[in-house]
Amino acid sequence: MKNVFVLDHPLIQHKISLLRDKNTQTKEFRELVMEISMLMGYEVTRNMPLKEVEIETPVGVAKTNIISGKKLGIVPILRAGLGMVDGLLKLLPMAKVGHIGLYRDPETLGPVEYYCKLPEDVSEREIVVVDPMLATGGSASAAIQYIKDKGVSSIKLMCLIASKDGIDRINKDHPDVAIYCAAVDEKLNDHGYIIPGLGDAGDRLFGTK
Ligand code: PRP
Ligand code: URA
Repeated sequence: MKNVFVLDHPLIQHKISLLRDKNTQTKEFRELVMEISMLMGYEVTRNMPLKEVEIETPVGVAKTNIISGKKLGIVPILRAGLGMVDGLLKLLPMAKVGHIGLYRDPETLGPVEYYCKLPEDVSEREIVVVDPMLATGGSASAAIQYIKDKGVSSIKLMCLIASKDGIDRINKDHPDVAIYCAAVDEKLNDHGYIIPGLGDAGDRLFGTK
């Protein structure tokens, strides 16, 4: 496993445990996904470049730093990635949001695209792809390839729970993409679910099961 950052902040780890619990209901699940995404956003943006500016305070002039460099874009993979957007937008209110709709074919587990809308200036932005689950890695790999094909050169992947297989897949297909996650789980079951994971993230977020 390369290029993986497992975010071990106690608040993130505690909230991931609540998220995994089968007794956690939709409202709390949604709030937790939002909160964890916000906390993870702190690390995902750690390397943003700064530039020095002068700011007039009420009593003097401060040499101080503001964020410079590429603007950010957030691209959730629908549906479950939607749950991670608001938490990041709380930190990055000026970020533009694109959407990529993919679902996994239940037989082949391969991603099927059904929607895509990215900001017009996407190629000038640093993009954070968000999806709670990195299972086989097929969906994230396809989404990243789609974004690269639009001319984007700087992409990060942020997920909540990743499988080792999923990380290997992204390392192989996109060695330039750093993966930020809160947990790495051992295995997938025969249906491509992460074990122990948290179940079906989309269904738990939207109450569809
Ligand atoms: C889930 C999840 C990822 C994908 C991960 O979405 O949110 O997008 O599966 O699996 P993979 O790494 O094997 O591709 P799902 O297809 O269940 O769609 P949904 O978000 O609409 O529920
Ligand atoms: N998608 C999910 O929602 N959960 C998994 O465990 C795998 C894919």
